[in-house]
Amino acid sequence: MIYIILFISTFLSYHFFIKRQTWWSNPSKTKLPPGSMGWPYIGETLQLYSQNPNSFFDSKQKRYGEIFKTHILGCPSVMLAGPEAARFVLVSQAHLFKPTYPKSKERLIGPSALFFHQGEYHTRLRKLVQASLAPDAVRSLVPDIGALAESVLDSWAGGRVVNTYQEMKKFSFDVGTLAIFGRLESCYKEELKKNYSIVNEGYNSFPTKIPGTLYYKAVKARKRLGEILSEIISKRREKRMETNDLLDSLINSKGDQGELLSDDRIADNIIGVLFAAQDTTASVLTWILKYLHDDSKLRDAVRAENMVIYEANKEGNRSLTWVQTKSMQVTYKVIMEALRVASIISFTFREAVADVEYKGYLIPKGWKVMPLFRNIHHNPEFFPDPLNFDPSRFEVSPKPNTFMPFGSGVHSCPGNELAKLEILILVHHLVTKYRWELMESQSGIEYGPFPIPKSGLPARFWKQTL
Ligand code: HEM
Ligand SMILES: *[C@@H]1O[C@H](CO)[C@@H](O)[C@H](O)[C@H]1NC(C)=O
Ligand SMILES: *[C@@H]1O[C@H](CO)[C@@H](O)[C@H](O)[C@H]1NC(C)=O
Repeated sequence: MIYIILFISTFLSYHFFIKRQTWWSNPSKTKLPPGSMGWPYIGETLQLYSQNPNSFFDSKQKRYGEIFKTHILGCPSVMLAGPEAARFVLVSQAHLFKPTYPKSKERLIGPSALFFHQGEYHTRLRKLVQASLAPDAVRSLVPDIGALAESVLDSWAGGRVVNTYQEMKKFSFDVGTLAIFGRLESCYKEELKKNYSIVNEGYNSFPTKIPGTLYYKAVKARKRLGEILSEIISKRREKRMETNDLLDSLINSKGDQGELLSDDRIADNIIGVLFAAQDTTASVLTWILKYLHDDSKLRDAVRAENMVIYEANKEGNRSLTWVQTKSMQVTYKVIMEALRVASIISFTFREAVADVEYKGYLIPKGWKVMPLFRNIHHNPEFFPDPLNFDPSRFEVSPKPNTFMPFGSGVHSCPGNELAKLEILILVHHLVTKYRWELMESQSGIEYGPFPIPKSGLPARFWKQTL
């Protein structure tokens, strides 16, 4: 969904005026996938917007099968709704499909952030990011994440109405900065937080150089972020502290000829990781609070599992450990099921770098290719009664390539361990010490830009008297 909003502004104009290639001319004998392209240029964009995007994809899949073509947001595209097709694009033939983002988005995050790249540079950065977010690295963060969870929960208690999603964003941002900087001085943290939120607000707005607009403000705030980060980086370089956070591994990284990463490249990647970490995790956490609220039996089961740990820790007098988080089997399945049902990253985008053939169909060079994660996660063949929230279905592992909430292949999510860990920790403190009520009984979905419960799930929280 994020990508839909993200594409509308930039690519529409780009393809309209510059790329007047005729996508219907087909040099080879192979045929294009089935599907309709709609009107030239406008394509099927209006159909996509006049209905829920997911029912657009669903009805296409029903009509044409697991691979079909369409033309949205100025781009001829091939959509892939099957597990093997997704694997083909993301894993086995990943070198034939490059990441693709509008320039206006690249500019806000920073063009050197790893997810815009492929090949050597991507591999180098990916190793650094992956190592600092691997289980061995994040397990040392458990006590600090616990303290962050307790403090954010404490700030909600007392029964005032809070916007769950906005509050979860504070938590996921703090956890993100913890993984990146370790314990960052609080003045830097505040400056980063405020400026970053301006960047975040401008991300899905229309890109323009007109002063006063959200995008313009975001570009300015991004510049200030670069300055703050460069100050933090030079302080860190002087001190040569031996910490194990992402910032240090970026600073200390040496290329084949011993070359260091420039401050700009470091800053782009730090902002990239923050960007990838915050809204995603916060959306999933918000859904989990809704699912747990709506199903009291499930909530009791999660609470029972966590109370055993809580009591073993002398009612929280000893802090939660990494090993304990690994023992939360019921809670873990709730997270898996939330990732599946909510499928907050409904699909991703790549671009074919050459003419590619898949199962007798041609994917022409330059076309966008979209693996549809949500369609796969909601296919009754793989997940019976797919819209029913039922964590027990994860007692059996899903079939290969049918469950990809964190993507797959070279660009799959390096933050998945941290995301799961911070969710386990927050849920542990929530269910053992708090109860909550939702302000709106009717369900509804909003895009912020990831799907979240309506209005960010306004709720009231109370500390529970045991
Ligand atoms: C529940 C929360 C999260 C979900 C559902 C999620 C999902 C994803 C997905 C699907 C991708 C692949 C996108 C693609 O192939 O186009 C991805 C990439 C990425 N994620 Fe996450 N993510 C989450 C949390 C995080 C966190 C907490 C971090 C970092 C602390 C993070 C860092 C990244 C980075 C850096 C990439 C780009 C990797 C690359 O291009 O090599 N994510 N994420
Ligand atoms: C943004 O960063 C600058 C420093 O570059 C700082 O002075 C300012 O307080 C920060 N916050 C906002 C909201 O601009
Ligand atoms: C936890 O600590 C508090 C205060 O230090 C104490 O009153 C309480 O008895 C302790 N709980 C347990 C189960 O040890």
